[in-house]
Amino acid sequence: MDEHHEPNAALTDQPVTAPAIGAQASTPYAATTPETVFEAESVSIYYGDFRAVTDVSFQIYQYEITAFIGPSGCGKTTVLRTLNRMNDLVDGARVEGDIKYHGASLYGPNVSAAAVRRRIGMVFQKPNPFPKSIYDNVAYGPRINGVRGKDKLEEIVENSLRGAALWDEVKDRLKKSAHGLSGGQQQRLCIARTLAVEPDVVLMDEPCSALDPIATGRIEELMQEIKSRYTIVIVTHNMQQASRVSDRTAYYSVLTDDKSDTRTGVLVEYDRTERIFQNPRDPRTEAYVTGRMG
Ligand SMILES: Nc1ncnc2c1ncn2[C@@H]1O[C@H](COP(=O)(O)OP(=O)(O)OP(=O)(O)O)[C@@H](O)[C@H]1O
Ligand SMILES: [Mg+2]
Repeated sequence: MDEHHEPNAALTDQPVTAPAIGAQASTPYAATTPETVFEAESVSIYYGDFRAVTDVSFQIYQYEITAFIGPSGCGKTTVLRTLNRMNDLVDGARVEGDIKYHGASLYGPNVSAAAVRRRIGMVFQKPNPFPKSIYDNVAYGPRINGVRGKDKLEEIVENSLRGAALWDEVKDRLKKSAHGLSGGQQQRLCIARTLAVEPDVVLMDEPCSALDPIATGRIEELMQEIKSRYTIVIVTHNMQQASRVSDRTAYYSVLTDDKSDTRTGVLVEYDRTERIFQNPRDPRTEAYVTGRMG
């Protein structure tokens, strides 16, 4: 057990020597039991006195796409943000219980939240490119991580934009403002920016909610293309999207207690996606996925 309390070397502020983009592509996906990336054990998450999420436990597996679904306010974003310590930035947010990342406590002593966020990237609901050129958006993270040299940066920018299926559309306008791109292109740019720092995990919080069906389809294709190299967790309100793209689905709901007038998010059911959508164990899951409950 003791080793679980040791900080993962990759999560301290030591320089990380991550594999190059694509270097993991040859990893065979033959293992019947995929490696566990995150293990949450009895996790409760508070904002001040308010317990937003109660007693959540799950495992998230490597090179899979895991979807979080459930009604508004059930805590999907809150749980997602605990996976890369984004909640540290929220006033009053507090995590109880344990979240392990590759076997080491994410919230353990000596773990650097900044190092965690380098390994575990996040794409938000609303595309949020910096007010900079397309090139500088993608080069931003690598530059902060100390990558120098025009040739090296150009290579990273091109590979990341190719990885995000955006290269062909922007290769002739790299020095133009990112804000001149369409919403779907901006979202793919944000994905490229995330990939540029060679993360291990990509967290996506409703990445397609502001996009039309064509742009959404492109992002979904992109997720399928990159999942051999990245572990992806996606929050979505779109049931078809969850069933199309994900390997596993977690259905969260809100538990209300009329006596004490409290509400809290709980994980109702977590299983392989086809099981959740075709043959769920819990009647609440069935009601939600069949659209009989919001
Ligand atoms: N910064 C915050 N401070 C206080 N309460 C918060 C904060 N962020 C979220 N909450 C509360 O925590 C609960 C879960 O919110 P969360 O945003 O995680 O839900 P969600 O499932 O992502 O909802 P949606 O589908 O609407 O995005 C809600 O009751 C919400 O009001
Ligand atoms: Mg949310």
